[in-house]
Amino acid sequence: QRKSSKCQMKHVFSGTLVHSSKENMMEICKKRLIGVDSNGKIAFIDNTTKLEDLAKKFGFQKEDVISLQPGRQFLMPGFVDTHIHAPQYVFTGTGYDLPLLDWLEKYTFPSESRFRNVEFAQVAYRKVVTRLLKNGTTTASYFATIHYEASEILCDIVAELGQRCYIGKVCMDRNSPDYYIEETEQSIKDTERFVKHVLELKNPLITPVVTPRFVLSCTSHLLKKLGHIAKKYNVPIQSHLNESKNEIALVEKDYPGYSYTAVYDKHNLLNNKTYMAHCCHGSDEELNLLSERCSAVAHCPTSNFNIRSGIADVRYMLDKNVKVGLGTDVSGGESSSMLVAMRDCIKASNVLSLNKSDGYTPLTFKEAFFLATLGGCQVLGLDEKIGNFEVGKDFDALLIDAEAEDSPFDCFKADDLRDVVQKFLMLGDDRNIRKVFVAGKLVAGVDGVPM
Ligand code: GUN
Ligand code: FE
Repeated sequence: QRKSSKCQMKHVFSGTLVHSSKENMMEICKKRLIGVDSNGKIAFIDNTTKLEDLAKKFGFQKEDVISLQPGRQFLMPGFVDTHIHAPQYVFTGTGYDLPLLDWLEKYTFPSESRFRNVEFAQVAYRKVVTRLLKNGTTTASYFATIHYEASEILCDIVAELGQRCYIGKVCMDRNSPDYYIEETEQSIKDTERFVKHVLELKNPLITPVVTPRFVLSCTSHLLKKLGHIAKKYNVPIQSHLNESKNEIALVEKDYPGYSYTAVYDKHNLLNNKTYMAHCCHGSDEELNLLSERCSAVAHCPTSNFNIRSGIADVRYMLDKNVKVGLGTDVSGGESSSMLVAMRDCIKASNVLSLNKSDGYTPLTFKEAFFLATLGGCQVLGLDEKIGNFEVGKDFDALLIDAEAEDSPFDCFKADDLRDVVQKFLMLGDDRNIRKVFVAGKLVAGVDGVPM
C-alpha cells in the first residue's frame, strides 16, 4: 500500500483494538479508526462512521486507511518485559537442574563473564533484541553485565533496532568468582559513567537503571553509593528481592534484624522508581514497606518454576496496592516471549489458589493481559506515555492475525472475538504477530497491508 501524497498521518488503521483501560483489564473495541501522527503519537481514536470528518480534520484519504480483517485481526499494545537479563539469552533453555545460588555459580556467572569480549557482546545482544522485537516486546527492562563496554553496546543495538528500553550495568563487588567481580570503586564509577552516557544520548526510548544484582553480591558501601547515584540523576532502580529461601537466609545472616526488603530500604534503594524482581517470599511487613515506598514488583513466574524458587502471590500484591508487571527473567525463564510469562502467571496463580480459602480468586487471562501491557508500564513509570490506546500516547503496538497462514492454532467461524483474542494469548506466538511498532515505527514483522 502506498500513502497518498496528501497524507499527513504516519498510519491510519480501521478495525478492532484490544487494550486495558482505567476501568477494564481488557476492552475489545470494534470498528475503530486510529491515527498515528508523524511523531509516532496517537492523533485520534474514533468510530469508523466518522471516517469523512476525521479524514478532513487530520489530513488523510480513504485510500490511506489500512483495514484490519474483522474477526481475526486486531491491534493491541506492545508487551512490556519488566525483567530480563540480556546476556543470559545465550544459554536460555539449558541448565535448570540447580536452584538459584548454584545456578548462578555454575551457569550464569561463567556465561555473563563472556561479555568481557565486545565482539561476542555485539553478536549476542543483537540476537536477543531482535528476538524480543519479533515476540512483540516493545519495551524491555534489561540487566546487562558488569562490563561497561558491553553495556554500551547493548544501548547502541537497542537504539539501532528501535526498541524502547531500560538498561542497567550490573553491579557486583562481593560473593562472586574472581573472573566475574568488580572493585567497589570501579563499580561505582562505571555505574555513574553509564548513567551519564545514556542520559547524554537523549534518546527518548532509552533510560538508564541503577542495577545492584542483589544484596548478596553487593557490599553495603556499594549499595549506599548506588542509592546516591539513583537520586542524583533521578533514574530508576532494579534488583532482585525475596526470590529463593536459601538466598533470604544468607541475607538475614549478613543483616541480622533486617528483612531483605528493609536492607534495600536502609540503603535508600526503595522509592517510586524502584522495581524488584520475584518477591516470591517475604512477610506482610515487607509488602507493606514496598507499598509505602511506592516500589513495584516484576513477577517472573516462568523463572520461579524452572529454578524452583517459589510462587509469588500477585493477587495479594494487587490487593495491597503494589504495582505488578511481568518479566520473562531470561534465562531463569526459558522463554523470551511475554505470552509464556502471561500463561505461567495464570498457572502460578491457579496453583496458589489450591491452598487458599474459597474467597481467593486466581488471576484471569484478562488480568495477565493487563500485567503484560499497562501494568508493566505502571511498574516502569511509563503509563502516561504508553501501555494502551489513548490520544497523545506513543503508538507502541502489535498487529495480531489470529488466522495468519502459519498460525499455531485454529479459529472457527463460530468463535466470538473474545475467544479469538483469548486463543491468541493462550496459544499464539510470533507467527501471529504480523507487525510490531514502537513510537509509530515498524520495528519487526511484515511491511505493507497485512496479508
Ligand atoms: N539473583 C541474582 N542474580 C540473578 C539472576 O541472574 N537471575 C535470577 N533469576 N535471580 C538472580
Ligand atoms: Fe533476574
